[in-house]
Amino acid sequence: MSIPITRPFIGPEEMAAVQRPLETGWLVQGPYVKEFESKFGRFIGAENAVATTSCTTALHLSVVALGLGPGDEVIVPGFTWVATANVVEYMGARPVFVDIDLATFNLDVARLEVAITPKTVGIIPVHMFGLAADMDPIKEIADRRSLWTVEDAACGFGAWYGGTHVGTLGDLGCFSFHPRKSITTGEGGMVTTSRDDLAETVRSLRDHGASRSDLQRHTQTGSYLLADYDRLGYNFRMTDIQGAMGSVQMDRAEWVLAERHRCAEAYDRLLADVEWLALPITPSNSVHGYQSYVCLFQPEEPNLQSADRLHEQRNRMMARLEAEGIATRQGTHAAFMQGFYAAKYAIPRSDLPRAFLADRLSLSLPMFPGMTEDELEYVATALRSAADA
Ligand SMILES: Cc1ncc(COP(=O)(O)O)c(C=O)c1O
Repeated sequence: MSIPITRPFIGPEEMAAVQRPLETGWLVQGPYVKEFESKFGRFIGAENAVATTSCTTALHLSVVALGLGPGDEVIVPGFTWVATANVVEYMGARPVFVDIDLATFNLDVARLEVAITPKTVGIIPVHMFGLAADMDPIKEIADRRSLWTVEDAACGFGAWYGGTHVGTLGDLGCFSFHPRKSITTGEGGMVTTSRDDLAETVRSLRDHGASRSDLQRHTQTGSYLLADYDRLGYNFRMTDIQGAMGSVQMDRAEWVLAERHRCAEAYDRLLADVEWLALPITPSNSVHGYQSYVCLFQPEEPNLQSADRLHEQRNRMMARLEAEGIATRQGTHAAFMQGFYAAKYAIPRSDLPRAFLADRLSLSLPMFPGMTEDELEYVATALRSAADA
C-alpha cells in the first residue's frame, strides 16, 4: 500500500471549472475570483474576503496595510512556518519569537506579555494545524497594549473558536490554499477582515496599488482610462483559473471537513492506547479543522537533553514507515532555528524549549478526504510495529 501525506480532492467539477475562464478569455482576478471570495467570506463569516496568490502574500499585504516598518517588533510563535516571520522581515521589522504550548502547538499565552516591549506593534498568532490559538486572552492583551493582531490562519480553514470561525477574530486573517491545505487552488491565499478600510487597502495593494480593479474598469464607462496608482503596490493577484477551482472547492467544504474529522476520529480510536504518542487535543471551546493530524513522539518526558536522542528515534521510525509506503512529516519547523534567523539572531534553543521540541519530535500522519478505513488501520498498525522495531 502507498499512502501519501495528503491527496487534494479534485473531481470532475474542478476539471470543468478551470476550463471556463480559459473559454471566456478573462484569466486574471475576474468574476470567478469574486465568486470564490464571496463563498469563502460567507462560509467563515467574514465581511470582506480578498484573494491573493498565497498565504505568504496575504500576510505580507496585511502588515503593509497596518503600516509595519523598520524598528517595529511583532510577536510570532517560535514553532511556525518560516513565512510567518519572513513577512515581518520584509518590512525591516523584527519578529520576536515566543514559545508555544506543546499540547496544542500554539502560542503560549502565559509568555506573551513579557515579550512585549515599547517597540511592539502587533501579534501574529498562528492557528497551528487547524486548531485555533487561544484568541480571547491574546485579544485582551492586544487591546490593552494597543497592538494589532493578524491571524495566520494558513492551516485554519474549518477551525472555530467559541463558535466563531478563525480569521474573523483579529484585525485581519490570512488563509492558504496550497495543496497541503483543506481547500486548494494550487497556490493561493485570502485576506479576511471586518474592517472595510483595511480591506480596501489590501484590495488596492494586491493590484499594484490601483484605485480600481481591471474588472471594475471593464464593467464601467470610461474603461479606456487607467486607474490611479497612488500607493506602492504589488502584483499578488489570483488568477481566475484558481478562482474557478476555489469556488468549486468551497462547494465541497463541508464534506472535506467532515472527512477530516472522520479520519481524526479513526486515528484517535486506533491510537488511544499508544502511550509513547501524544495525540492532538481540542479544547472544549474549539472545533479543530484538522489541516493535519500532528502528534508528539514522547516515549519519555522530552527535554533539551533527551531531544536529540528521541529525534533520532523518531526519524528511524519515520524511515521505516516510508519503506512501507507511508508518508509522514514533522508537523512544521521552528522558524527561529532556520538558517536566516539563526545567523541573524542566534536565539538559543533553551529560550524556546517547547518550540524546539516540537520541531524535533512532532509527527504528522497521512490524512485526506476519501482516505479509507483500511488505509487508516494500515497506518496505525505500521506505526505501532515501526516503533516496536
Ligand atoms: C503557519 C503557516 N503560515 C504561512 C504559510 C504560507 O502559506 P503559503 O504557502 O500559502 O504561502 C504556511 C504554509 O504552510 C503555514 O503553515
